[in-house]
Amino acid sequence: MAEAVADRLLLALAEGRPLGLATGRTMEPVYAALRARIAALPAGQRQRLLAGWCSFNLDEYVGLAPQDPRSFAGVMAAALADPLQLPAAALQLPNGCAADPDAEARRYGAAVQAAGGIGLQLLGIGANGHVGFNEPPCGPEAPCRCLPLAAATRSQNAGAFGGEPAAVPPLAISLGLAEILAADRLLLVVTGAAKAEILRRSLLEPPCPQVPASWLQRHRQLEVLVDAAAAAELPERAVS
Ligand code: GLP
Repeated sequence: MAEAVADRLLLALAEGRPLGLATGRTMEPVYAALRARIAALPAGQRQRLLAGWCSFNLDEYVGLAPQDPRSFAGVMAAALADPLQLPAAALQLPNGCAADPDAEARRYGAAVQAAGGIGLQLLGIGANGHVGFNEPPCGPEAPCRCLPLAAATRSQNAGAFGGEPAAVPPLAISLGLAEILAADRLLLVVTGAAKAEILRRSLLEPPCPQVPASWLQRHRQLEVLVDAAAAAELPERAVS
């Protein structure tokens, strides 16, 4: 599945529209596959692709410096920017260390808009139905903003913080569902049995604020890639 996602990312990068990237464990094999795909390109093609790289990540913790390996900037540097030798400016994320996180969220949302919006937006899903860090309840018009993280999210992400939910920053900056739904295309990637129930609710129940990912149904070009475990609660006719 990671290979299928990497294929789509590679095609999207070649199109020249800004790419929307995500973090999380789901994306680790995806970025490994993408690195391998890029390394295998003929030199000229690889150089063109890297020179034209423009991506925006969904979110960042407030209070972590980009150099902090637990920050999403740190994660993206280790996963893509460093191994591919991309200039820092090519991979954009909200600045978690900005003095005024609300102003930084507005700046970041405006930067996405100034770049013409997102072409392909890669998405994972949180166990509570969040996309990016759009925690429930969340409507489809929520813009890029600074917001508190749900207790469930801090527990889910505690692994990078010594297993201690209280050590996970309480605030984050996230692109909103407004910017996400404005992307040309959405690619939702879901793996593992723990996500099966929230995936079913997201895709098959009427959209509602309690399941932020359910608003993705409104997008005209949503592709969902799942493994068998995550698809377990979907009716067979819904899976191909
Ligand atoms: C994180 C991110 C989301 C991600 C989700 C799932 O906190 N903000 O963008 O999709 O949670 O993470 P994982 O793939 O580790 O389950």
